[in-house]
Amino acid sequence: MNIAETINQVRQTVKLWKGQGLTVGLVPTMGFLHEGHESLIRQSVKDNDRTVVSIFVNPMQFGKNEDLETYPRDFQRDSRICQEAGADLIFHPAPEEMYPPQFFTYTDMDTLTDGLCGSGRPGHFRGVCTVVGKLFHIAAPDRAYFGQKDAQQLAVIKKMVRDLNFDLEVVGCPTVREADGLAKSSRNSYLSEEERKQAPVLRQALSYAEAAVRAGETDVKTIRDEMIRMIETKPLARIEYIEFVDGETLQPVSRVEKPALAALAVRFGKTRLIDNCFFQ
Ligand code: PAF
Repeated sequence: MNIAETINQVRQTVKLWKGQGLTVGLVPTMGFLHEGHESLIRQSVKDNDRTVVSIFVNPMQFGKNEDLETYPRDFQRDSRICQEAGADLIFHPAPEEMYPPQFFTYTDMDTLTDGLCGSGRPGHFRGVCTVVGKLFHIAAPDRAYFGQKDAQQLAVIKKMVRDLNFDLEVVGCPTVREADGLAKSSRNSYLSEEERKQAPVLRQALSYAEAAVRAGETDVKTIRDEMIRMIETKPLARIEYIEFVDGETLQPVSRVEKPALAALAVRFGKTRLIDNCFFQ
């Protein structure tokens, strides 16, 4: 496995592979890899001849008061995980490589980015679309892999690929969970012992919603009220949002008609956790 720090190194390597008729998968990450990332890398290795993993904590997608400075980083460990999962190349650029001085061009999107995480994190998806678009141009992948835990991000990237005619397939992969149901996330490392004990309530509330819909309940208010009640039994939990939206437009719905998405963001102290489930 090779490590590239410059865009040119990645371009040259990918050009060589493509010249040999090989297919390329890209797994964009911000590092501090966990089993969720590992599953994306393994899927890419299965689907493609070569796999590039990008590790870049993208400053553009963090708000002023967010955790850019403290975002966990461990490149040695990440490299080991990539190697073991079968990646061929890590792209690990410095911020100046991605955003040199006089950088003025951005990729942004209307509508899909308004609600859910977009309302509490203005500018976040502009940062995500810009960096992911750049990574697509740099690594020229045939397929790119993203986790379904970030359901809005996945929908936004799929839409960007359609709208801007990127010639690649976006593959969404299932959320990987801890034994108690908590979705794996690099940010779980911020949780105190007590917060970690209470955090599985996110998954419990979503499981309740799944069971309610299976039993024939479609009224969002009824389901949502019970989810709020469940989460509020945990004294350290602060609900940022619990939303039911159309699975494609991400616009709020009052009845669960498939396909739909239930998504939530809950804070435990300074840690913001997200999770979701699909009804299809
Ligand atoms: O999901 C993430 O880790 C990031 O948003 C991504 C897609 C790597 C872009 O920086």
